[in-house]
Amino acid sequence: MKEVTVKAPGTVANVVCGFDILGFALGEPLDTMTVRVTDTPGVTIINKDNYDLPTDAQKNVAGVALLAVLDAIKGDIKGFEIESTKVIKPGSGIGSSAASAAAAVVAANHLLGNRFTNAQLVDLAMYGEEIASGSRHADNIAPCIYGGFTLVRSHDPVDIIPIAAPPLHVTVLHPQIEIKTSEARGILKKKVAMKDAITQWANVAGLIAGLMQRDYDLISRSLTDVIVEPMRSTLIPQFKELKQASLDAGALGGGISGSGPSIFMLSRDEATANKVKQAIQSIYDKVDIDYHVYVTTISDQGVRIKT
Ligand code: HSE
Repeated sequence: MKEVTVKAPGTVANVVCGFDILGFALGEPLDTMTVRVTDTPGVTIINKDNYDLPTDAQKNVAGVALLAVLDAIKGDIKGFEIESTKVIKPGSGIGSSAASAAAAVVAANHLLGNRFTNAQLVDLAMYGEEIASGSRHADNIAPCIYGGFTLVRSHDPVDIIPIAAPPLHVTVLHPQIEIKTSEARGILKKKVAMKDAITQWANVAGLIAGLMQRDYDLISRSLTDVIVEPMRSTLIPQFKELKQASLDAGALGGGISGSGPSIFMLSRDEATANKVKQAIQSIYDKVDIDYHVYVTTISDQGVRIKT
């Protein structure tokens, strides 16, 4: 039986000012998925974790992505079987659904002799995001497939720009509450004031320039969101305090990871990222919510084949 096992990283989408267009891959956590070519038509799903995700391929993010692959290859093979072991908790805000969909299409592509480009894989994996959140967006999928920091210049047609970033350490807080992406998208205003749009695209441009010029001060100044964060931050207990304490501890900046509830803070070095972790802990120890906080890096590696 032809099979391959891949590992897929968690990702941080939006990166404060770049709603639906910016994202980066995390060093951890990583999901594991084995994909096999089968003679059973369609996509068979076996979940090896306790998240109780759907096994009906039409309702499963990896399932719909592989159905799209089968559709694209027009009968060359009959079906795929997925064995999924998730570590990235669904609904945590660090790209759990994107990791599943990206893992599935990268693994399938490997089994098919790499006939799709990375941009085509992003397009196929977006079918997963569509059922997970009700909208096609690629800001988690792109870094999950490409690794590193990515800009989604366009998702239709797919145009992904890898952005060279200097070393950055990431402190991630995952409060154990659930925020559905569809709901976090639903609370957003449909219209943006021109003055806010100007501030926002200035910050997006500043952040990209800061990353490419390795200018940490410019990165820090640009990590500002006047459009999405004011609405979504109300969903995360102690958000303002967490952000201020992180900045006081030396973080360059940060905010909501994707649609939350996780938040992320960027630091220049690991020692600062650990101080940020302690600052976050000292706030969340007083809050009646279980949480997990850890330090990792931006990883150059996206979905990788396990050898
Ligand atoms: N850009 C997306 C959002 C990421 O913030 O809704 C979560 O899927």
